This record gives sequence, structure tokens and C-alpha cells, in this order.
Amino acid sequence: MAYETIAVRKTTPAIGAEISGVDLSKPLGNQQFQEVHDALMENLVIFFRDQTLTHEQHKDFARRFGELHMHPASPNTIPDHPEVLTIKADANSKHVAGEEWHSDVSCDPEPPMGSLLYMKQLPPANGGNTLFCNMYAAFEALSAPIQRLCESLTAIHDGTQVYAGRFGYAQKPGGFPRNEHPVVRTHPVTGRKALFVNPNFTTHVVQLKRPESSALLAMLYRHCETPEFQCRFAWQPDSLAFWDNRAAMHHAMWDYFPHGRLGYRVTVKGDRPV
Ligand code: SIN
Repeated sequence: MAYETIAVRKTTPAIGAEISGVDLSKPLGNQQFQEVHDALMENLVIFFRDQTLTHEQHKDFARRFGELHMHPASPNTIPDHPEVLTIKADANSKHVAGEEWHSDVSCDPEPPMGSLLYMKQLPPANGGNTLFCNMYAAFEALSAPIQRLCESLTAIHDGTQVYAGRFGYAQKPGGFPRNEHPVVRTHPVTGRKALFVNPNFTTHVVQLKRPESSALLAMLYRHCETPEFQCRFAWQPDSLAFWDNRAAMHHAMWDYFPHGRLGYRVTVKGDRPV
């Protein structure tokens, strides 16, 4: 793809690109916005370095891509900025956000389209990288009979095991979101098919017996560990990563305990997977 207003340097052939030539604190012109959008569609996750953003500017950039999503469970939001999620770990942490492969809030009826994480503080020794996996590539690399099987199935994504079970967040009236989504979804913009299950939220495949469901999910998760589907981003303070939750999973490395890491995430609403 040809870009005129930004420079795009791929992180790996499969996924990820570093974008330069953009100041995210200022409103993007239409062409630059379109090119950033195209780079996200092409690379599934895009990275920006050396950005200086207030919470308001962070939200303004995210809003160019859609309405902002409110997290259904996390108590870690910022006063006056309920759409901004604090992603924080320190010596007191028992768990960290995103420590298992997932697509953000896939338990929602309409899971988020994308997430924009702006990193402010990092641990020493280049700890706290984030890994991303291309779920189109994962689907396309399956053999045809397994693709057909997966395309015929749906799975349950349940927030309770994550938000109540692991993080101990207080239940809200009505409980945490629990929804059924296709195991393979078609991306609303690119039209490509992507695997849409993850070990964080997906509890089981609806049409299969439990042992069959567990075996199939374990096989798919093992398959997604293929390094050729992935990239790994080494953050610096003031980096921002923007990922497409419809086509990529991610995993936050927690290799820095007891050191700290601090960032802020704004999330953009998505639509019902089909
Ligand atoms: C997340 O899942 O939003 C957290 C990712 C990270 O901390 O790298």
C-alpha cells in the first residue's frame, strides 16, 4: 500500500508496523487519518513513538475511529475520564491486565473494534513487551477440513472467569458479560476471516461435548503460538500501540515483577461478530 502522509515500517511480515510522521496530539487531516486507518487494516497493530498526549488528546484520536467503549468491569478508570483505563502493575500486583492471550473484552455482545494503549512508565531491562498474533493468518494456515469445522461453530466468551475469578472485581447488577460468538468471524472492513477464540474469555464451544471442545480449543491455541503469526513490541515511554481486536489477539508479558509499568488504554466500540 502506498502512503503519502506517514511512513510505515513493518515489524514482521505477518503483523505490526511502526508509523512515523504523525503527531497524535493534533487533529489528523482526512488523508492522514485515512492512511493511519489503512495501515491499521493492513498491519492489525500499529505503533507510534514519542507522543505527548493528555487524556483528552488520547480520547480525541481514538474517537476518530468510533465511539469510545466503557469497560464493563474494571475499577481502574480515571476520575473525569471514565473511558480511560489505567494499566498498572507494581510490587503489590497479583495479576496484570492482559497477562494471557486475548482479544479485549471479547465477552461483550459487541466486543471492541480497537484499543489504544499509551505507555508512560516501563520496567528496566526492556521488560513488559506486548505480543500480538495475526488471527487471519492463524485461520488461513489451518487445513481446509478444520477451517470448515471451525466455521460451523460458536463459542461462549464469559467475563466472569476473568473479572471475578482472576481479578476479584466486584459484580455489577446483571453480572459480567457472557456472550456467544462465531469461532471464525468475518472482518467488517477487510472481509477476511479470522479465528475469534481466546484462552482468557472463551469457556467452551457450544456445539461440542466438553472434552471435544477443550481439545479443539487447546489445538487452536497451540496453533496460535506459531511464532510466524506474531510480533513483539518493545515499548518506550510515550509509545502508543493501536490494535484491531477483530483480527488480532495480544498478550502482555509480565517478566518484570516487582518493578512497575504504567499506561493508559482507550478502547473503541465494535460490532457483533459475524
Ligand atoms: C491490555 O490487554 O490491554 C494490556 C496490554 C498491555 O499491557 O500490554
